[in-house]
Amino acid sequence: MTITEYSNNSKPLKIAIIGAGLVGAVAGIALSKLSNVNVTIYERSEKPREVGAWIGLTESSLQVLRKLVDIDELQKILFRGDQDGGYVKRHWKTGEILAVNLSSTTTDRRLKQARTHRVPLHNFLFSYVPEGLIKYGYSANKVNVTKDGVDVIFEEKDPIHADLLVAADGIYSRTRRQFTGDTVQYKGAVAYRNVFPIELIKDIPSLPNDTSAWVKDGDIMFFSPLGLDQYGVVALVFDPEDVAKKFIWNENTGEWGREHLRKHFADWDPIIDKVLKVMPDITSFPLETAPWLKDLTVGNRLAFVGDAAHPTSGAFGAGAQFGFGDVWALYRSLQETVSNAYVDTGLPAEYDLHRALFLFNETRRHFLARVEKQLGYDADTYKRYISTARNDKEWRARFRQVESPLEWMRENNVEADFQRVVDEQGPFLRTIYID
Ligand SMILES: Cc1cc2nc3c(=O)[nH]c(=O)nc-3n(C[C@H](O)[C@H](O)[C@H](O)COP(=O)(O)OP(=O)(O)OC[C@H]3O[C@@H](n4cnc5c(N)ncnc54)[C@H](O)[C@@H]3O)c2cc1C
Ligand SMILES: *[C@@H]1O[C@H](CO)[C@@H](O)[C@H](O)[C@H]1NC(C)=O
Ligand SMILES: *[C@@H]1O[C@H](CO)[C@@H](O)[C@H](O)[C@H]1NC(C)=O
Ligand SMILES: *[C@@H]1O[C@H](CO)[C@@H](O)[C@H](O)[C@H]1NC(C)=O
Ligand SMILES: *[C@@H]1O[C@H](CO)[C@@H](O)[C@H](O)[C@H]1NC(C)=O
Repeated sequence: MTITEYSNNSKPLKIAIIGAGLVGAVAGIALSKLSNVNVTIYERSEKPREVGAWIGLTESSLQVLRKLVDIDELQKILFRGDQDGGYVKRHWKTGEILAVNLSSTTTDRRLKQARTHRVPLHNFLFSYVPEGLIKYGYSANKVNVTKDGVDVIFEEKDPIHADLLVAADGIYSRTRRQFTGDTVQYKGAVAYRNVFPIELIKDIPSLPNDTSAWVKDGDIMFFSPLGLDQYGVVALVFDPEDVAKKFIWNENTGEWGREHLRKHFADWDPIIDKVLKVMPDITSFPLETAPWLKDLTVGNRLAFVGDAAHPTSGAFGAGAQFGFGDVWALYRSLQETVSNAYVDTGLPAEYDLHRALFLFNETRRHFLARVEKQLGYDADTYKRYISTARNDKEWRARFRQVESPLEWMRENNVEADFQRVVDEQGPFLRTIYID
């Protein structure tokens, strides 16, 4: 049993968040709800970046969002279609259905996995970020973690001091690299993505009205309506590095990209070319990755969330889920270290960052390590088992045999994980002195 003492003259906890991506925005929404805090988000770009293609929201992401935003309002920008949000995996050549990763345990339809596009999702989430919380044009260069707090040094701006820093600066996180010294590397595949008006494909007969993935050994073509009268295409292609290097992340490849894909998918299910033919253009996202953090914290003062902590690079279509889950765990960990008694007595809350960051790291690290392991298993299964099938019949049989719905991942309940970690620590009592 641990007993701690608190004084009642605490100043607000100053929280700085680096990065206003989807995860930084959700961190801004959640952490602002804590008592006696002062939250600011520092974002490098000069204004909100309204770009992006389709983005998947799993059951787990929606479970977290439900606690922070109006989940009924959110439904307006989501698409589920004929298979209730499940990804329909199709044979690359015949288009026949091989598997659907449906949710079997989530019964509330509003929480079933869905697709949307990043721009309306970004706008929706930003409408919940308290006014003035985000400071644009702040590019963090370096952080200095000391026992009194953390200093953030920016390019061409005065440094700031905070009690707690949340690094949500994405896959290329300078904050992470300052501590790990890692370099981000090409993963071997390019994601070509586009969103365009659904009007363009409405005359294509027998195009499925669901989220479909045509799969071969590694290469995948995804099609889906995305809601709000938009249609999305994502092609995952194992392009050699010299092809990948032709275009930077989020660069429109124009006619070249479209023809590249038409050639690549020429002998696949003919419905694919029908869509590629009417698609206006395509944007390239060379997928890069870096080692995932084992420790999500530094010195009781810094917490990593989202792609900064685990550069998932599109894996499992769940990058947003993993980031939102981190944020929920961090929010609950901070909340846990402030006694309800403080709320009841109206005294300013005082946080125990040491304990909070321990709970946060402990809630997330086991799950994330397991996800990272799964990436390795899946790659290995494809390489050694599926792609070595000697004929199509064998390929199908092998594919069906190893196919997993991954519900443990998609439906990960972060709140339950958090509670398990808290209970594991045993009773934690605080002694409160009121003068
Ligand atoms: C513009 C954009 C478009 C995207 N489009 C898609 C998409 O269509 N589909 C999809 O599945 N995923 C997309 N992603 C990735 C997806 O948003 C993330 O994988 C996931 O949501 C995790 O988000 P994140 O907030 O951790 O990281 P990110 O979304 O990458 O956000 C990181 C934020 O930090 C800011 N930043 C970086 N370095 C610094 C610094 N030194 N100082 C201050 N700020 C900094 C960046 O400008 C960015 O706003 C996109 C990301 C971005 C940034
Ligand atoms: C496709 O599914 C959506 C959502 O379920 C529905 O609103 C739409 O009418 C469907 N379109 C067609 C062509 O069936
Ligand atoms: C980090 O902070 C400490 C304590 O304030 C200070 O002495 C040190 O010079 C700082 N280091 C850097 C690199 O800014
Ligand atoms: C976070 O977890 C890692 C193992 O994954 C551990 O080494 C580290 O000490 C933990 N950090 C905290 C603050 O508990
Ligand atoms: C669901 O299926 C799609 C299509 O194969 C796949 O890309 C995605 O990773 C799967 N997601 C999960 C979490 O099972």
